[in-house]
Amino acid sequence: MERRDDVMEVRFINREDVDLVKRMNMYCFGLPEERVNWLAENVFSPENCIGAYEEGKLAASLYIFPFEIFLGERVVKMGGIANVATLPEHRRRGYASRMLIESLRIMRERGQIFSMLGPFSYEFYRRYGWELGFHKKKYTLHMEDMKKFGDPGWSFRPLGPDDIDSMNSVYESFIKHYHGGVRRNQDMWKRKFEEIKKFEKNFHCYGTEDQEHNLRGYIFFSIREEKFYVEELAYDSLRAKKALFYFIYLHDAQARQIIWRAPADDNTSLLLDDPGHKLEIQSGMMVRVVDAKSVLENYPFDPALKESFTMKIDDIYAPWNNAVFKVEVEDGRAKVEVLRSNVSADLRCSIQVFSQVAIGYIGLKEAVQLEKVKAPNKGKLDKIKRLFPAKVTYINDHF
Ligand SMILES: CC(C)(COP(=O)(O)OP(=O)(O)OC[C@H]1O[C@@H](n2cnc3c(N)ncnc32)[C@H](O)[C@@H]1OP(=O)(O)O)[C@@H](O)C(=O)NCCC(=O)NCCS
Repeated sequence: MERRDDVMEVRFINREDVDLVKRMNMYCFGLPEERVNWLAENVFSPENCIGAYEEGKLAASLYIFPFEIFLGERVVKMGGIANVATLPEHRRRGYASRMLIESLRIMRERGQIFSMLGPFSYEFYRRYGWELGFHKKKYTLHMEDMKKFGDPGWSFRPLGPDDIDSMNSVYESFIKHYHGGVRRNQDMWKRKFEEIKKFEKNFHCYGTEDQEHNLRGYIFFSIREEKFYVEELAYDSLRAKKALFYFIYLHDAQARQIIWRAPADDNTSLLLDDPGHKLEIQSGMMVRVVDAKSVLENYPFDPALKESFTMKIDDIYAPWNNAVFKVEVEDGRAKVEVLRSNVSADLRCSIQVFSQVAIGYIGLKEAVQLEKVKAPNKGKLDKIKRLFPAKVTYINDHF
């Protein structure tokens, strides 16, 4: 198909175009009208939606969710790319491509230094700088596996919007073990409950409380066709996790199997008498560094390390990243200076690899071992490697 750069304009949508975007989302994602209307009223706002216009008519659209994510204890802004859609009569003309490139400029302006998305194709988004950044362990367990987790002496009760504060404390204590998890505010929790109530059948939320009535863990789940689907499990201790397993076991009359997509470091298999269950590793969301300088300045370096190095990043779609960065690390923080792109550097990698290293999906050591990083001086490289260890990434917000 012919590219239409001459007649195409990419910009924020007008309020009058909201109905068109709704129709586009119904068409491209097969979403029911009721859900699209609810999303438009409760979640979407035109100032986060960009469109590609052909001769003034909307041909494609893309949404940028304003999120904050945890990098361990640190919090940074992240633009969540969603609903990338081009009407079929306008496809393969570069509209999605132009919107993705424009989204980088917008996210940078808004201080969203990372971006994430759930891809329909890894290849499609990789060419614009996003790369695989998350995976989960998918367990298929037998209900009988849970039998050994006896009654913990704690209570269980359904949770709802009144419990958001205590749920969020449990969630935060859990999510801060990871890199990339979303910081949820009151509105996001409320919307989660509203959405479940309105659109999800057989979907429940229960919590477990200790003897002092403190919430120690919670579970979102659904039961369908004798399968118990764990949608989210968060707890503040092993005891709370075991209590939730016992809660699951109380459903042995309703379900035979448990399906659970757990964080990549979850070690439940080690707790079970029979570890012979099905365990799959599932690739998940992609990540992209939007603003390399700010990411380096906000990266949670080990405070015990003091080092300085230069790094060249190759990024054709975000020219502000396509440079050499001089980085001086001390007391857990980095001072970063941007140098010209044509000076030699201690290490060099693509924006995709830097994104994986920055979120912690792979450590610099592994990136080097996979020959994804070029470094002429091996002695220097060994010192720099220690600055970027692998972390466990985990996100359970779907957008
Ligand atoms: C995926 C989608 C947004 C692509 O839109 P588009 O405007 O046709 O994409 P572009 O023309 O900008 O394509 C950019 C490049 O990706 C390639 N591409 C386009 N669609 C592709 C696909 N489905 N699979 C693989 N590559 C694809 C194009 O050929 C082009 O490559 P080129 O620059 O080498 O020519 C569109 O097909 C769509 O709306 N699909 C349904 C909704 C959906 O699945 N969205 C993605 C949600 S994650």
